[in-house]
Amino acid sequence: MANIIDGKTLAKKFKDRLKDEVTFLKGHGIKPGLAVVLVGDNPASQVYVKAKGKACEEIGVNSFQHTLHKEIAQEELLWQISELNNDSNVHGILVQLPLPDHLNEEVILEAISPEKDIDGFHPLNIGRLVINQPLFQPCTPLGIMKLLEDTGIDISGKEAVVVGRSNIVGKPIALMLLHKNATVTICHSRTQNLEEKIGKADIVIAAIGKPAIIKGNWIKQGAIVIDVGINRLDNGKLVGDVEFEEASKRASFITPVPGGVGPMTIAMLLHNTVEAAKRQSKGLKV
Ligand code: GUN
Repeated sequence: MANIIDGKTLAKKFKDRLKDEVTFLKGHGIKPGLAVVLVGDNPASQVYVKAKGKACEEIGVNSFQHTLHKEIAQEELLWQISELNNDSNVHGILVQLPLPDHLNEEVILEAISPEKDIDGFHPLNIGRLVINQPLFQPCTPLGIMKLLEDTGIDISGKEAVVVGRSNIVGKPIALMLLHKNATVTICHSRTQNLEEKIGKADIVIAAIGKPAIIKGNWIKQGAIVIDVGINRLDNGKLVGDVEFEEASKRASFITPVPGGVGPMTIAMLLHNTVEAAKRQSKGLKV
């Protein structure tokens, strides 16, 4: 049976360390602040935003929540972001995705100052990740790398299969694994013979968003399985993208859903916010 990767416990370790760091910074007159912008009333986004605010509170980071009407004009949202860019109490700015269809996501994300882009979604931060000179890296993939590190396994030379090619998870995690010298295959909705590709993987990163779409018996004996999916079934149960029971009979390590990747995403958001506050207090520019 696989070892269960306990994201909750690892996230707590990070948060405890960050809490001490925030206390230290406050002693030097720096109070890290995170602005979270939610547009509209997407129920999943509301849950995530609430969790982010609570996590800030836990470690002493100031959280500024801005809930905006779902029909807000793009110009108005850009103006709000500009206000936050110029607010010295705000060190990190997060615009919760997805945005309503009438808003241009690329334009909105590019409006956030790269110095405050604790999500790592600004083209400048993405570019820096591509050339392996990262400033702020996206929180979910960064959390996954910490989980992999914690298993003690050497990534170098391993066959890694990433399923999903989103800008938030699939593409950045593929780059991060590549920079650790994994041989990376990115699979997506048009990929043929997914089962065969997964069957060869030493590391599987599932980031699709479809319940149990990756079958447990596809997993190679001894593989590490990281499940990013959080899917709510009709009966209210949360499940990942991987068939957990069957996969855990074959994997050496596997993340549970919930309690795997999710808590680490939030811990990394706090980490990036504290880093942003430290950089801004030193007057560092990108
Ligand atoms: N929506 C889903 N994941 C994320 C994330 O990491 N950041 C933001 N801003 N929106 C998201």
